[in-house]
Amino acid sequence: MITAEENRQLTEVGPHTFMGDLLRHYWHPVASASQLETEPVMPVELLGEKLVLFRDNSGTLGLLARGCGHRQTSLAYGMPEESGVRCAYHGWVWDSEGNCIEQPSEPAESTFRQKVTTTAYPVEELGGLVFGYLGPSPAPLLPRYNILVWNHSNRETHGTVVPCNWLQVAENLMDPAHIENLHGRYFGYVLDRTDPQESAFFRSRFMPSAIKRSSFDLFEHGIIERHLCRDEQERSWATGSPFFFPATAMVARDNGSGTLIFVVPLDDERTWFVEHRAWPSEKKGEPQQSVPFYDVPGTDEHGQFRIATANGQDHMVVVTAGATTDRRLEHLGTTDVGLIMYRQLLIEQAQVAADGGEPINVRRDPARNRRIDLPQVAAGSLRVPV
Ligand code: FES
Ligand SMILES: [Fe+2]
Repeated sequence: MITAEENRQLTEVGPHTFMGDLLRHYWHPVASASQLETEPVMPVELLGEKLVLFRDNSGTLGLLARGCGHRQTSLAYGMPEESGVRCAYHGWVWDSEGNCIEQPSEPAESTFRQKVTTTAYPVEELGGLVFGYLGPSPAPLLPRYNILVWNHSNRETHGTVVPCNWLQVAENLMDPAHIENLHGRYFGYVLDRTDPQESAFFRSRFMPSAIKRSSFDLFEHGIIERHLCRDEQERSWATGSPFFFPATAMVARDNGSGTLIFVVPLDDERTWFVEHRAWPSEKKGEPQQSVPFYDVPGTDEHGQFRIATANGQDHMVVVTAGATTDRRLEHLGTTDVGLIMYRQLLIEQAQVAADGGEPINVRRDPARNRRIDLPQVAAGSLRVPV
């Protein structure tokens, strides 16, 4: 049973909050690099902070507080310079380190700019995604998950802004029990009412199998979710799906195709759900010039949930549970064991961070960060009773 205070502690992401301080120990995606090709200066948000992301004319990325350090006008309307971004209002130029390097309206002999700085955060690009880090210095290594570093020519990113707290979105990834009902029984029901022919096709080809067993194993960097529908050799059981702490799921296959899912808290009531997909092609070795980005709305042109798609169904269930689910009203059953484990891990690791320690999956050893592959952990071997 969760109290109102515990729910608040688990969900709030702003600066100087229990979970916000934990989440600041990690890199999070803030944009797709291809977005910067059309918009070299763009507003982004992360962990309740309004920021501006830019690529200056020399190619350097910058991630700064959005309000200009002069009089707080949004730098998202700024202009890229050879080095840094120039504010639209009075033309002060800020470099990616947060230094003010030009103040055209101040006297030429003035040294005032040398005394002025603004908040600047580390920012890095990998696999066509741009990541930001808002935590304590020194920043850890940006995790090189396999899908981000495969030498593939085919990759793309899909992003959806979900109007609810991040924890609902993350918990849905720790809840395989919903697949059979939401993406099976309910999917069939929706199609029966809208497209009987499509429904017959869905029922004959895509109806999810019943889960006979599921398990959650803690591992060094997070939690491995497993479920068994047929036998112990099937991938969903033998390998499972790792959930790298705090909120990155990896669905990778041996043939070099896979998806990384990032759950990115924008603020307390909006989440960016990012799916980054890669698959091999004949042109292996020739990296894509640009990784396409698709901004996928969660609802249709009438504002209705797209419940005739699996992603639209997931969107509906997390959004309708409230902007921040009131977890005092829950009645958790046996299938909720994974998300209970996840909440316990979040609280435990937030306490580690609050005590000045380093939480799990913060990477500092380059030798162990060349390529992060699927963890090979036998089912049940690291299970911690919950
Ligand atoms: S507010 Fe940005 S230069 Fe004045
Ligand atoms: Fe789902």
